Amino acid sequence: MVKHPKNTHASSTQEVPAVAGIPKHVAIIMDGNGRWATKRLLPRVAGHSQGLSTVREIVKECGDTGVEYLTLFAFSSENWRRPAEEVGFLMKLFLTALEKEINRLHRNNVRLRLIGDLSRFDPLIQERVAIAEKKTENNTGLNLTIAANYGGRWDVLQAVKECMSHYPNLTPELMTEELLQPFFSMSYAPEPDLFIRTGGEQRISNFLLWQLAYTELYFTNVLWPDFNKKELQASFSWYRDRERRFGRTSAQLVNQDAKS
Ligand code: IPE
Ligand code: IPE
Ligand code: MG
Repeated sequence: MVKHPKNTHASSTQEVPAVAGIPKHVAIIMDGNGRWATKRLLPRVAGHSQGLSTVREIVKECGDTGVEYLTLFAFSSENWRRPAEEVGFLMKLFLTALEKEINRLHRNNVRLRLIGDLSRFDPLIQERVAIAEKKTENNTGLNLTIAANYGGRWDVLQAVKECMSHYPNLTPELMTEELLQPFFSMSYAPEPDLFIRTGGEQRISNFLLWQLAYTELYFTNVLWPDFNKKELQASFSWYRDRERRFGRTSAQLVNQDAKS
């Protein structure tokens, strides 16, 4: 059976990945925009606009700190359930951000990619996404991924469907993790080392379900518009103190460190 041509990264359930003091891949649920605005007696959408400034600061800080992949959850497959005016505002914000931010990202050597079912978006948004991805495709700095109309379950299903149509003779015995991995929408990235959720909720809300298997989970009460580089660095210090065992015992890790 021919291997799918796309890049693949080591899977945390197939082998023990190398870990470093700085997370290589940070994935964030940017939550709390609405509450930030409501607290200030502002319309919820004012929180979304303010949240965009936080995105700028965090993208810059990740690039400066040497993070290689940053993945931001901007709009979930369930966020369509929100009031039409809020969804409409988010779409407009998305469209203007794609246009306004792309030059800055490009100057900073950031490579932008979108994951999610983009087919549900306005064709103009889809067109701008394609232009932005194309423009930054040769950039070698931070890999920024925006998850839009993304859902972890959608991703697993689309990966299975793609895999089955790529290998028409696939039978259950032939199905392996390695075979499926290249079909996930983020197969170009290693699994996240650190997951951050702002806004106080301690849930995954259908974000990267498959990829978070061994990710360190960090929850903070800080609302996304108040999150900043100091808060990000605090999450990095917390991350450095974690013992990432990937199923092994603590003693095994101590022995491994003594050997190296
Ligand atoms: C996150 O902030 C942004 C999106 C989901 C688009 P929220 O809008 O969920 O803010 P809260 O959770 O209501 O405060
Ligand atoms: C998760 O936040 C999605 C994004 C940040 C894009 P939500 O605010 O939609 O999550 P729930 O509904 O509180 O779980
Ligand atoms: Mg929320």
